[in-house]
Amino acid sequence: MTWNKNIVNEPSSEGWGGPWTEKKLNAFSKYVWSYLTILKKYPQWKTIYFDGFAGSGSKESDEKTDLYQQLKISEDEERTYKGAAERILNLKDGLSFDYYYFIDKNQSSLSKLKEKLEGLNLTEGKSISYRPGDANKWIKEMARALHTDKFAALVLLDPFGMQIDWSSIEELRNTRSDVWILIPTGVIVNRLLDRKGELKNIQKLESFFGLPESKIKEHFYRKEIKQTLFGDEEESISKVYKPIEKIAALYSQRLNEIWKYVTEEPLKLKNSTGATIFHFVFASNNPSAVRIAKDIIKPI
Ligand SMILES: C[S@@+](CC[C@H](N)C(=O)[O-])C[C@H]1O[C@@H](n2cnc3c(N)ncnc32)[C@H](O)[C@@H]1O
Repeated sequence: MTWNKNIVNEPSSEGWGGPWTEKKLNAFSKYVWSYLTILKKYPQWKTIYFDGFAGSGSKESDEKTDLYQQLKISEDEERTYKGAAERILNLKDGLSFDYYYFIDKNQSSLSKLKEKLEGLNLTEGKSISYRPGDANKWIKEMARALHTDKFAALVLLDPFGMQIDWSSIEELRNTRSDVWILIPTGVIVNRLLDRKGELKNIQKLESFFGLPESKIKEHFYRKEIKQTLFGDEEESISKVYKPIEKIAALYSQRLNEIWKYVTEEPLKLKNSTGATIFHFVFASNNPSAVRIAKDIIKPI
C-alpha cells in the first residue's frame, strides 16, 4: 500500500459508511435519550449538546464519484441516512438540550447540515450554534464554560481519523461532561504502528495518545535478545499480539485518567469483511451514566 500522509486524517474506503455507522449512531441515540431523561431531575444545570465533528448531515462527500465507487454507498443508503445531529434534534418524547453546538472544520458541510435540519423543521425554538473550525479549539472553549459548574454537557467526538489531540481531552478533566469518542483503532492507528516499530508518524501518535514515543513503544512492541548463528546477541523488536484491542485498551485507560468511569469494553465496529476498524468508547464521572452506556453497547 503506498503510504499516503492523509491517511492519518481521512481513512480509506472502509472508513465511512456501512452497517457499522448505524450501530454507532443507534447506540449513541439510545444513550442520549436516557441522559436527557435523567438530567430532567437536575434543572440547576443547563444542558449542552456538543458535536465536534458534525458533518453535513448526509454521507455524501465532495469526492462524490470516487467515494461512491470505493464506498459502495447506495443511493438508498444516502437518501435514508440520519446523522447524529438529525437524530439528536428528533428524540422521542420531545426531549431536548438547552444548547446545541455543531462544529465542523468544513464550512460547506455546516451550511448543508443547517439547511437539512431546518428543512426537516427540527430547529424551531432550539438554541443552535454552527461553529466552523477545528474541533480541538472548540473543545477547549467549551471546557472553560464547563468549569463554571452551570452546565452539564454531552459530547460526541465522531471524527474520520485521528483529529482529536489529547491536549483537548485533558481540558475536560473535572467537568460535568459525558463523552462518546470514535477511535480509528483498526482503520488508522494500527496502520501507524508498523511491524518493526519505526513509527514514521510518531508525532501523530504522541498527540493522539498524549504519550511520549518511549511509552507508545512500551505498549505496542516487545524487545527480544536473540543469539545469532555466530553467538552474538541481537535485539529484535516485534509488534504485540492483538494490537487493535490494545489500542482501544490504551485509549480507554487514558480516558480513565480524566474521567472516573469508562466503558472498558468499547463498542467494536467492523467493516464488511469482519475486521475491526473503529471502537466507540464512553467516559463520564457518573457511575450510573457508564452503567447505562455499558448496557446499551453490551448486546450489540
Ligand atoms: C465522520 S464525519 C461526521 C459524521 C457526523 N457526525 C454524522 O453523524 O453524520 C467527520 C466530519 O469531521 C470533519 N472534520 C475533520 N477534521 C475536523 C477537525 N479537525 N475539526 C472539526 N471537524 C473536522 C469533516 O469535515 C467531516 O464532516
